[in-house]
Amino acid sequence: MKKQAETVPEYIKKEIERLIKDLNYHCYRYYVLDSPVISDEEYDHLYRKLVELENTYNYILPDSPTQRIGAPPLDKFDKVSHSEPMLSLDNAFSHNELIEFDRRIKRLLETNNDIQYTVEPKYDGLAIELTYINGFLAKASTRGDGYIGEDVTQNIKTIRSVPIKIESSAEVPEYIDIRGEIYMYLKDFNKLNKNREESGEALFANPRNAAAGSVRQLDPAITIARKLHLACYGIGKVSGKDFKKQEELIQWLKNARFPTPAILRTVTGIEEAIRAIDEISSKRTVFPFETDGAVIKVNDFELQKILGYKTREPRWAIAFKFQAHQGVTRLIEIKGSVGRTGVITPYAILEPLRLGGVTVSRSTLHNWDEIERKDIREGDYIVVERAGDVIPHIIMPLKERRTGRERLIQRPNKCPACDSGVMREEGEVAIRCVSLDCPAQIQERLIHFASRGAMNIDGLGERNVNLLYSNGLIKHFEDIYKLKKEPLLKLPRFAEKSAQNLIDAIEKSKNAQLSKFLFALGIPHVGEYAARMLAERFSKLEDLYNVKAETILNIKQMGDKLSNAISGFFNDSKNLQTLELLKELGIKLTNPDFKDDKDTKKPLHGLIFLITGTVSIPRKELQDIIIKLGGHVASSISHKIDYLIAGQDPGSKLNKAKSLNLKIISYEDFLSMISK
Ligand code: IVH
Repeated sequence: MKKQAETVPEYIKKEIERLIKDLNYHCYRYYVLDSPVISDEEYDHLYRKLVELENTYNYILPDSPTQRIGAPPLDKFDKVSHSEPMLSLDNAFSHNELIEFDRRIKRLLETNNDIQYTVEPKYDGLAIELTYINGFLAKASTRGDGYIGEDVTQNIKTIRSVPIKIESSAEVPEYIDIRGEIYMYLKDFNKLNKNREESGEALFANPRNAAAGSVRQLDPAITIARKLHLACYGIGKVSGKDFKKQEELIQWLKNARFPTPAILRTVTGIEEAIRAIDEISSKRTVFPFETDGAVIKVNDFELQKILGYKTREPRWAIAFKFQAHQGVTRLIEIKGSVGRTGVITPYAILEPLRLGGVTVSRSTLHNWDEIERKDIREGDYIVVERAGDVIPHIIMPLKERRTGRERLIQRPNKCPACDSGVMREEGEVAIRCVSLDCPAQIQERLIHFASRGAMNIDGLGERNVNLLYSNGLIKHFEDIYKLKKEPLLKLPRFAEKSAQNLIDAIEKSKNAQLSKFLFALGIPHVGEYAARMLAERFSKLEDLYNVKAETILNIKQMGDKLSNAISGFFNDSKNLQTLELLKELGIKLTNPDFKDDKDTKKPLHGLIFLITGTVSIPRKELQDIIIKLGGHVASSISHKIDYLIAGQDPGSKLNKAKSLNLKIISYEDFLSMISK
């Protein structure tokens, strides 16, 4: 029996409050300041202690870090109307346009004195409004059309740098709308796309789309798996506090533990502003994120008020847009690199050129179709673009510069790493090497297995995997766990300490979570998310042995491709032998993701409903009932729906349901179903 909050002893309440305070502080050190003061293990230890106490005493406070996760998927986003419109910014592309902006401001303010401006980087992401009431995050909404946005509170709460509660050492207003941008680091964007490519999912065009796509997810579990960041740069409605300047606002945000722009310069006069812009521009390639410009704002809020707004933009601010890092060079040759599932991805060897301060001699291409679509040929002059530290990509060939000697690019008919044959699955763009013994695939599989989101073996990155593989020390996953220190010492780059560190890291990785282990195995199409869904349904690894594709297909969100790949993997006796061997070598799996009986015993567990037409209670209430009883409410029709609840005037969904042979029930049928 869980205890009631009233009977919770005072010292336990104090302990829970202390843990929350400490955990929130460490979260801030890690995610906002990027300078943690405790190890990940220590953090996990405190977190587990908190979870244990919360569960035992059923005493859960709103600012507990445990409240960031676990919200159920939504059916759709509610609309939110912004207290003050979220507007856009006017752009300037040259220094002259900035000088013109400054002149206009002086004219409107009827002054000849230099104006004080702030200059900060422009973040390229998704604009967000965070509403805090009495210091607590009450709502997070997207910009939408500027007046009405979408309620994405559950998703935003999963972003650890977003404070759930405003740090109380700052002066906390009764109400405040804080505005900022959600964005993604370039390295995380590249990793995300690489994984999506490996698992055959559509790629995001740029970090901005990836950030927006990650926030606008009905299931917060997807958002939490994406690494998102926040930079706060402004406010909407406030009551209970008076800010006088942008500079002061940013300082307050900092004290209140909000992440703020990486640079904020306060300057006098437009010349100084231009120098600050140049400073930001020169740091562009050093920032871990993409910035496409700098924002100049009149520092004084009184003056901002006088200057006011045009229809869509303020008169007191402007965005200076940096030139994209583009250049023209010659494409010498297209080559293919082989990934862990055998996918052969093309890349281009370029005549070296300088772009944004670095020399570029390679460029990525997503797949062979892209080469055809863009009509890229060997020998072409091409336009390349490099954004931040992303590997540059080819925009287009300059067809007018062709001489006739350019060569069409052939799709590979053998593996560039091992000369084996290749194949292309129906409906897939990817070309794959068919060999199971391909050295490139083997090494990529090992790199993936040891990587951070998988078995997390420190010191077993690309370089060391290559070194150990080429010296015959590792080939299969199990070889990692058979490694001894002595042979390592014979290799270049390894000394007593580094060899011991690697052995220790391998030892440590033996205790892993089932979801990470499943991801590590590199089963085609199984990314981090699918791996977690599996761990939610299967309490232990052995339960997956010889699993049927239909069983997997029953899990919501798992389609044919995924089900076949998973079932194929766990029905292969060689794979099962490997898994057993890994267990013998000491791999111990825990499964905190497993949704135990509490959920599975709910009467509608695992059932997916779709509602159409008018039923006799408000639709939202019906949805709540279904979710409370363990069911899931879908937003569109598909063969995965178990029951279509049809009310009056059911519309086209009813016909579609009939054509898909779905079970169609009335609201009354539903009631009698749950009364059982
Ligand atoms: S201030 C009245 N500051 O850029 C609008 N916006 O292109 C004031 N943005 O909608 C916005 N970084 O989403 C401001 N440092 C920054 C920004 C920034 C990125 C976004 C914002 C805005 C868009 C306009």
